[in-house]
Amino acid sequence: MYYPEELVEEVRSRNDIVDIISGYVRLKRQGSNYVGLCPFHNDKSPSFYVSLPKQIYKCFACGAGGNVFTFIKEYENYTFPEAVKFLADKAGIALPEASEDPGYKSRESKKQKLLEINKLAATYYYKMLRSPSGEVGLKYLKGRELSDETMKSFGLGFAGIHNNEMVSYLKKEGYSDQLIQESGLVSFEEKRGMYDKFWNRVMFPIMDINHRVIGFGGRVMGDGKPKYLNSPETPIFDKGRNLYALNIARTAKRDHIVLCEGYMDVISMHQAGFTQAVASLGTALTSGQASLLKRYTNQVILSYDSDEAGVKAALRAIPILKAAGISAKVLNLSPYKDPDEFIKAKGAESFEERLRNAENGIFFQVRVSQERHDMDDPDSRTEFQKEVVTILCSLTDELERDNYISAISERFAINSTILKTKVNEMSAKLAGQDPYVAPKETTVRKKAEDPSLHEQRLLVTWLVDEPDIWVKIKRYVDIDDFSNPVYRKTAEYVIDDLENGRWNPAAIISRFEDEEEQKEVTSLFSTTLPEINTTQEKQQAIKDILYKIKEFSFEKYREENGTDITKMQQLIEKKKQLEAFKKITILLN
Ligand code: UTP
Ligand code: MN
Repeated sequence: MYYPEELVEEVRSRNDIVDIISGYVRLKRQGSNYVGLCPFHNDKSPSFYVSLPKQIYKCFACGAGGNVFTFIKEYENYTFPEAVKFLADKAGIALPEASEDPGYKSRESKKQKLLEINKLAATYYYKMLRSPSGEVGLKYLKGRELSDETMKSFGLGFAGIHNNEMVSYLKKEGYSDQLIQESGLVSFEEKRGMYDKFWNRVMFPIMDINHRVIGFGGRVMGDGKPKYLNSPETPIFDKGRNLYALNIARTAKRDHIVLCEGYMDVISMHQAGFTQAVASLGTALTSGQASLLKRYTNQVILSYDSDEAGVKAALRAIPILKAAGISAKVLNLSPYKDPDEFIKAKGAESFEERLRNAENGIFFQVRVSQERHDMDDPDSRTEFQKEVVTILCSLTDELERDNYISAISERFAINSTILKTKVNEMSAKLAGQDPYVAPKETTVRKKAEDPSLHEQRLLVTWLVDEPDIWVKIKRYVDIDDFSNPVYRKTAEYVIDDLENGRWNPAAIISRFEDEEEQKEVTSLFSTTLPEINTTQEKQQAIKDILYKIKEFSFEKYREENGTDITKMQQLIEKKKQLEAFKKITILLN
């Protein structure tokens, strides 16, 4: 962290979390909480909670959580210092210039440095394209009818014919070999050492939604292979969570976004005035990208190549978009292959007309299925109709589904009553399971858990919700019983606050730098407490929690030291204490 802790805390406390998050998510009040649809996964029913008193947020479906800095970092894809700067600006707090801080360079985070390297590289390639050694590149791009202005606004560049220019440039700039390798701009071989990944290619910098260069695509200037080479995934380049040109398309004033396959398609479309175009990054559309799109639009027009692979890609993409709450349409550019070719041949006006006539995604799915079956063969026809049932099941809104059932039964001559029954049967079976939504935390959470972790979370949440109980139970709380480092550290901070009459859960979160850790800390502050009616019940509940924690802590101690003769005495002592605790009654008033 390079800003002083007090300053970070001031920035945090001057940015109310409900105000800030309301700028991104529609929140509804519910007691002292606010709830809404989680922006970090494809949330169907509101799982996202913002606590006004605690100044934290937490999604009970995907596990995302933290304080206002965590939110801005995750949503805007910012590093911590960038999030601090962003929120300081909002609150009108002046921050010291980063460069005035002598230790700044060395303490800067890795992500920050990788962003800096990518930016330097983009500038380097940009200049090279406009220098004598870049002439071939410029000639190639001009041959593809790109104007100087277009090349400029996409920051296009050129990687020269030597294959160690970037390596030596970055070394000269003082970056370590380790960091240069992690930037993804170079390759490494035991025998050769580091060498440039990109050479003799025109370069397309890939930017995130905040216009920061996070990677590159490089194209050969002829028929060489591979046609496009892309940066590998790095700590700043997540291909499943970014889209090419979304930084521009997000501000296009249209009611839809066009999703196409290639960098060149996007660029020709923008040049022709269609600044609502984006492309995925050499991989198939992911649900992460769908959620990202959903922030800016409710409708996506797919413009994939008109070949078999393109149809397949569209069929895959439609349900993913649907699951994110986006309605999909499919663009037909035949007889041309892609937007770039279409625009060159027919111009912007015809393209606009094709956009207007884009086919509804559900009709597209049904039509493709029909084309793949023989309507005169009863077996094949039945198979087709079964596929139609599956397609209609992707619609979760009852009204919408009903409308489609009517439209499709008419258009494709299927008995509407039977269709309706079948769709309802199947969707009842599917209820509760959604093949396209995979909250990112599931794998993390499935790890074998320490059986008392839940109780440890309950204890901390209870102390945060009712700080008054601390004096009554403190003699039973042993910090060594917190079994994982993040839990222990959090408990220490909470106890320190309680001992000093302070209460500030959100500030504790800022003391952890890692996003995963911040999530864990948040879970310690936001576990759902059991429903309690009487003081007796509460006393018993808290005792049970403490007992479980102590019991497991003892078991662990025995496992680790049970065979050590010298620890025999301690083991007996601990066992006695545990037995004694079992007999006590905690009094809360
Ligand atoms: P296409 O092969 O359809 O390229 O690949 P394009 O957009 O028509 O490109 P031009 O017009 O020939 O220049 C579409 C996208 O697939 C990825 C790239 O992201 C490309 O923009 N791709 C393609 C690769 O990553 N590697 C390849 O070798 C080819
Ligand atoms: Mn093309």
